[in-house]
Amino acid sequence: MKFVDLKRQYDAYKQEIDAAIANVIKNTNFVMGPQIEELETTLADFVGSAHAIGVSSGTDALLLSLMALDISPKDEVITTPFSFIATAEAIVLLKARPIFVDIDPVTFNINASLIEDVVKERLKNGANVKAILPVSLFGQCADMDEINRIGAAYNIKIIEDGCQSFGASYMDSMSCGLSDIGVTSFFPSKPLGCYGDGGMVFTDDHELYERIKRLRNHGQSVKYKHHEIGLNARLDTIQAAILLAKFPHFLEELEKRNIAANIYTELIETKLKGKVLPPVVPEHQTSVFAQYTIRILDNKRDEVIKSLQENQIPYAIHYPVPLHMQPSMEPLGYKKGDFPIAEQASKEVLSLPMHPFITIEEQEQVIETISKAL
Ligand SMILES: Cc1ncc(COP(=O)(O)O)c(C=O)c1O
Repeated sequence: MKFVDLKRQYDAYKQEIDAAIANVIKNTNFVMGPQIEELETTLADFVGSAHAIGVSSGTDALLLSLMALDISPKDEVITTPFSFIATAEAIVLLKARPIFVDIDPVTFNINASLIEDVVKERLKNGANVKAILPVSLFGQCADMDEINRIGAAYNIKIIEDGCQSFGASYMDSMSCGLSDIGVTSFFPSKPLGCYGDGGMVFTDDHELYERIKRLRNHGQSVKYKHHEIGLNARLDTIQAAILLAKFPHFLEELEKRNIAANIYTELIETKLKGKVLPPVVPEHQTSVFAQYTIRILDNKRDEVIKSLQENQIPYAIHYPVPLHMQPSMEPLGYKKGDFPIAEQASKEVLSLPMHPFITIEEQEQVIETISKAL
């Protein structure tokens, strides 16, 4: 069994994917070929955003977004302590300061009801709170309405880290199209993944669009004229072609992910009730289940892991160390105990195999193995 079975997916769409790759090679448009703009237009349309910029990874999408907002060493960016390192790393790379706010114990996303007090306190201390960077973790959005309200009230920009949530809906809108800027990742195991690294930035703001487009290509405005210092952070044409080949299957894949998630949840309700908590999707939202992440209660995660290992069932822990306790974040001065909800989650979470091609038999085997361990 695979945690994410990319081989089954490739076998299903092999002809389209092979043809898309061959086409790029035949035309030798390896850098900034026409597939980039085609993908940008297609995905901007899907997200309901005016503009999209294809970039080299989700990490670079975050970095370019922060650069476009002129985030600098004097600035602070509010974010979650429970995410992949890239979220906070992009802030620290620009020498700005991440201000963590603890998470909601049910959704694992930043607790939006705590943000406003933190903003007020930081502003009172003379801090320059320049952006809020919520993460739509495991495939579903944070409380973006409340976060956008705070952004508007205090003139703070919002960047949604949608690296795990491309395709999720929030009210009647799509993840990555909910705030000033939305970013996603096309890392191979993501719900919409390419065959290497890739990412995208979405925005309705024309000026931000022009700036990010320029920043991804060495700050170049016209050929060999470099308006400002930028990066080489372009999306690869072959990756764009692969994504265009996969995208027509995306909605069906999301449906299959949701069916698989419902099956897991039903199995948990019948076989693991009171011992394991399944994920909860808030009302008026959908999840893309980038991860199907459960909570193992009563300190039993090690027993469960041992049993999964013995039965060769893959699993992951997203994330074993909260960001404020990462060695690379030590200079920020946070300590154990600062964000108890995130710290508790890091001890209890366990992600199960999840992808559109998983079978009911495989899911039953996963739950049976966990059940025996408990
Ligand atoms: C929440 C989050 N942010 C950022 C990233 C970074 O994306 P990439 O790996 O494409 O750089 C990831 C990827 O795993 C992620 O999950």
